[in-house]
Amino acid sequence: MSKDQSITDAVRACYSTWSGTYYDEYYGQEATYPPIHRDLLKGMLAATGARKVLDAGCGPASFLRDLAEIGMGRYGFDMTPEMVAEARRVLGAQGVPEDHVWEGSVLSPESFHPPERGRDFRFDAAVCVGVFPHIPPEADSQVIRHLREAVKTGGLVVLEARNQLFSLFTLNRISCDFFVRELIPVEALRTQSGGETSGVEKALEEIRQHFRMDLPPVRKGKAGEPGYDEVLSRAHNPLVLREQFAAVGFTNVRLLFYHYHCLPPMAATHVPELLRKQSLAMEDPTDWRGYFMASAFLLTGTRA
Ligand SMILES: C[S@@+](CC[C@H](N)C(=O)[O-])C[C@H]1O[C@@H](n2cnc3c(N)ncnc32)[C@H](O)[C@@H]1O
Repeated sequence: MSKDQSITDAVRACYSTWSGTYYDEYYGQEATYPPIHRDLLKGMLAATGARKVLDAGCGPASFLRDLAEIGMGRYGFDMTPEMVAEARRVLGAQGVPEDHVWEGSVLSPESFHPPERGRDFRFDAAVCVGVFPHIPPEADSQVIRHLREAVKTGGLVVLEARNQLFSLFTLNRISCDFFVRELIPVEALRTQSGGETSGVEKALEEIRQHFRMDLPPVRKGKAGEPGYDEVLSRAHNPLVLREQFAAVGFTNVRLLFYHYHCLPPMAATHVPELLRKQSLAMEDPTDWRGYFMASAFLLTGTRA
């Protein structure tokens, strides 16, 4: 089995048990934090006057179902069959035809138009939320190109990613990984260390001691399937992804940060209510603090 296929199988298994509860957990009244991105996305779609929108990796139509009152043509695909079934059920109850939702992967260009329709079937806008974490690094630009191809010239594309720079604020195992995998040239230090080899290891150990290596807890599956942190679930550097996005051919490229944390999550256990309230007060998509204090971002642009 190829590496890509085993990633795909694991991600699909991870989401297979989540279709009935996902909306309540992340969009519903009981969500630990409100879905800030939903209102940002709705505002953008309304501002462009989009009539036909595609949600690539739509899950259980978590976003599409909340567009009911706007009255636009809603389409989506997802690679997990259970998600497709739930999306069809929920949207069907709102009068959306069944063939507006299909099974497909963002890695394949054919997925970006409904089956039976040609590639000329293009949308006014395409959104892709929660999917980039599960894409292998070498496929990032390819998926951005697919999103671009899915919309008409002048069409809007919005993708969402988890913010890798947020790890500089969390002071935990993820921060340490960022230091030793992305910032410090560990291998060069080791090969160039000469008589200071043990010093390099001591320096790395000293760095590790500054982080809570037992946090965050690893999210496991509910019924034997792999959990979110047990499948490929990457964060992206917004500065790098923005460059890749612009290179594919977009104008008006913007980074919008959301899900702020007024404290590193480990400190939040002392003041959970205050954390939520004060973090909400910080939500400002264009504040520079978002580079470090927001755990997610939207990247948006118009097809040139
Ligand atoms: C975090 S959920 C987000 C669902 C929805 N977009 C939302 O924002 O609520 C991620 C979804 O992406 C889907 N997914 C993951 N990798 C995918 C891929 N390569 N192609 C299509 N869908 C994918 C999963 O099946 C899952 O439904």
